[in-house]
Amino acid sequence: MFTTNRRVALFVSSILLLIAAVILVFQQTQNQPWQQYQRMYFKRTQQPADIRVRQVVPQLTGQPELCLSCHMGLAEISPSHPVEAFGCISCHGGNGLSLKADQAHTGLRGGKNPGDLLVAQESCGLNCHNGFADEGKNHVDGVLRSLQGTYAGGIAQVRFSFGAQSTETPLYGVYGITDDHPATAAGLAELTAFPAQSGHPIDQKFAENCLDAGCHLSAAPRAEPYFYRSTGCAACHVIYQNDGLYQGSDPTIPPDEPGHMRRHELTAAIPFYQCNHCHNRGNYSLRQMDFLLRDDLPPAGAPISAQMPAEGRRLREYYQPIGEFTLCEWELDCIECHTSAEIMGDGDIHPKQQEMQYTQCHTCHGTLEELPTVVTVSAQHQTALRQAQINPNYTLNIGDQVIITERGELMGNTKQVDGRLILTSKVTGKTYPVNPVMGSGCQQTVAEQESRYCHQCHAYAR
Ligand code: HEC
Ligand code: HEC
Ligand code: HEC
Ligand code: HEC
Ligand code: HEC
Ligand code: HEC
Ligand code: HEC
Repeated sequence: MFTTNRRVALFVSSILLLIAAVILVFQQTQNQPWQQYQRMYFKRTQQPADIRVRQVVPQLTGQPELCLSCHMGLAEISPSHPVEAFGCISCHGGNGLSLKADQAHTGLRGGKNPGDLLVAQESCGLNCHNGFADEGKNHVDGVLRSLQGTYAGGIAQVRFSFGAQSTETPLYGVYGITDDHPATAAGLAELTAFPAQSGHPIDQKFAENCLDAGCHLSAAPRAEPYFYRSTGCAACHVIYQNDGLYQGSDPTIPPDEPGHMRRHELTAAIPFYQCNHCHNRGNYSLRQMDFLLRDDLPPAGAPISAQMPAEGRRLREYYQPIGEFTLCEWELDCIECHTSAEIMGDGDIHPKQQEMQYTQCHTCHGTLEELPTVVTVSAQHQTALRQAQINPNYTLNIGDQVIITERGELMGNTKQVDGRLILTSKVTGKTYPVNPVMGSGCQQTVAEQESRYCHQCHAYAR
């Protein structure tokens, strides 16, 4: 009797213990970080919770990836890189089989940014954006050798002026870089990494004030409103708001922590303020060896973009007050006028900016004696057709008539219809007439085509 009772008691308590253990294990498995992120996601987006492991098997690799189990709600990066084909690891690296963050993130390329210049060759270049016979498609080589990356001209100018080198020909870049086959006469074969430790005082100062806290493609930005941006390819193609806040719904990215992309999105429709995270934020004073900030924008707190509607803020934010500009220079976006090769480079290491900045006012408006040059689009114009295809704001078809630059690039968003040129913004889709100088009442001197001459009569007051 006694023994039976004891046995029953023992049996009951071990069952209870087992149940308790099962509940505990169940609770723990329900409370894994990935499940918590999904709960946060469903709460934030006010959807009924549907918590389960999310697996993708991308066509390009055939290997399962569990990243989206935590990064739920992260936008597909672009229509050219669909999740079903690319997954996450083809760009980011990492370990797709783990549901633990530290294990999953082992081997991430470039930290948060696989487009950083240190890893772009591997993340973006391999089989995709490099290695073609057509130089126009080798964007990784182009960007690495571009002046926005190397700053070769600026460095040479400073070192020459302060007696640190005896020639004006660039010897150094922000980083070292080579080119086995320069395609132009001025193209350099090599730049050595900037000698910050050379012992020359100018090198040390320049490294501190300009290169490290700088606006070159490889440099981290200042952590301040207006400056927030990423590096490398993402410095232009991943948009940052002026306040640096994330607007998407991935629960792992805090929406109130400045310094994140606006959305997980690569775009070629780059708005002016993205370029201005580096350009037009202030002036570098050679004499003071220091960067002087613009004083017409709020230095702290919410940027103007958060306070004003886009229309009014544009004129204010666009350019520095010291400059003079025509209507189209602040009304249009930078990429309307500046071509892909001007911006991403043409594959050569150029010694100075003047060689790579060739769009001029007359490219679009012509002169008193000439209309702008227009060509008919044919199948050979692959770059322009590709650019139009990935941009949702304008179309380009074989047979269209568009402006061509002196280096043979098409401005695919301009179109000649019934003898009149129309420009469709690559960023907003708005259309504008492009009126020719010829036949207007313009009083320009044909030999004086630089913008400073035009601004004498066409400056726009703000
Ligand atoms: C267990 C949840 C979890 C999984 C699984 C996971 N992540 Fe993350 N990830 C996070 C969290 C949380 C962060 C926020 C920063 C941090 O805590 O590391 C993050 C940050 C990142 C970042 C930014 C890193 C940085 O340095 O700022 C990248 C890129 C990223 N994850 C990619 C991936 C990829 C690719 C995978 C799959 C291979 C993956 N993650 C799997 C939770 C996860
Ligand atoms: C085509 C390449 C590409 C693919 C594919 C891709 N990403 Fe990204 N991702 C990027 C780039 C570029 C950035 C850098 C943004 C930046 O530097 O601000 C980024 C940023 C991120 C961040 C950083 C967030 C932050 O600000 O802390 C996370 C997290 C992330 N990606 C996760 C993923 C996950 C998960 C997948 C798969 C669903 C994925 N990515 C697919 C290119 C890609
Ligand atoms: C300084 C800004 C900037 C940087 C940095 C940059 N791009 Fe671009 N990219 C542009 C602009 C501007 C365009 C052209 C958009 C237009 O006018 O249609 C473009 C277009 C492209 C296109 C589409 C058009 C084409 O020719 O196929 C690809 C692909 C591209 N970039 C890849 C890259 C890669 C890869 C990197 C990094 C190695 C990179 N970009 C870095 C500004 C930049
Ligand atoms: C990461 C910072 C950064 C971003 C973002 C950036 N630039 Fe630049 N840009 C530079 C630097 C640095 C130079 C080199 C200046 C020099 O050599 O004197 C430069 C030079 C230029 C030049 C002169 C020609 C050349 O190739 O050197 C043009 C035009 C230009 N940028 C346009 C743009 C446009 C348009 C965008 C946006 C699509 C943009 N930039 C985005 C930093 C940047
Ligand atoms: C309406 C066309 C147009 C727009 C829009 C435009 N630019 Fe320019 N940009 C030019 C022209 C033309 C020149 C050459 C000026 C000259 O002839 O003296 C130039 C020169 C430059 C230069 C080299 C000379 C210098 O002043 O440093 C840079 C860098 C530059 N632009 C960057 C930008 C950026 C960044 C934006 C957007 C914020 C932008 N541009 C918007 C037409 C434009
Ligand atoms: C990409 C082509 C393009 C380039 C390059 C360009 N413009 Fe324009 N321009 C336009 C367009 C488009 C308009 C029409 C804007 C509108 O109607 O709102 C315009 C309008 C004008 C006007 C008439 C509006 C006014 O201010 O009264 C003048 C003058 C002008 N541009 C001068 C210039 C000067 C000077 C430059 C060089 C700094 C230049 N443009 C470079 C496209 C261009
Ligand atoms: C000495 C003054 C002067 C200079 C310098 C000048 N312009 Fe003009 N421009 C004018 C006048 C005046 C008009 C006629 C305005 C009108 O009809 O409303 C005009 C008209 C134009 C128009 C036609 C605008 C339209 O909407 O029909 C364009 C485009 C233009 N100029 C571009 C330029 C460019 C580019 C330069 C520099 C290479 C330049 N101008 C230099 C005075 C000048």
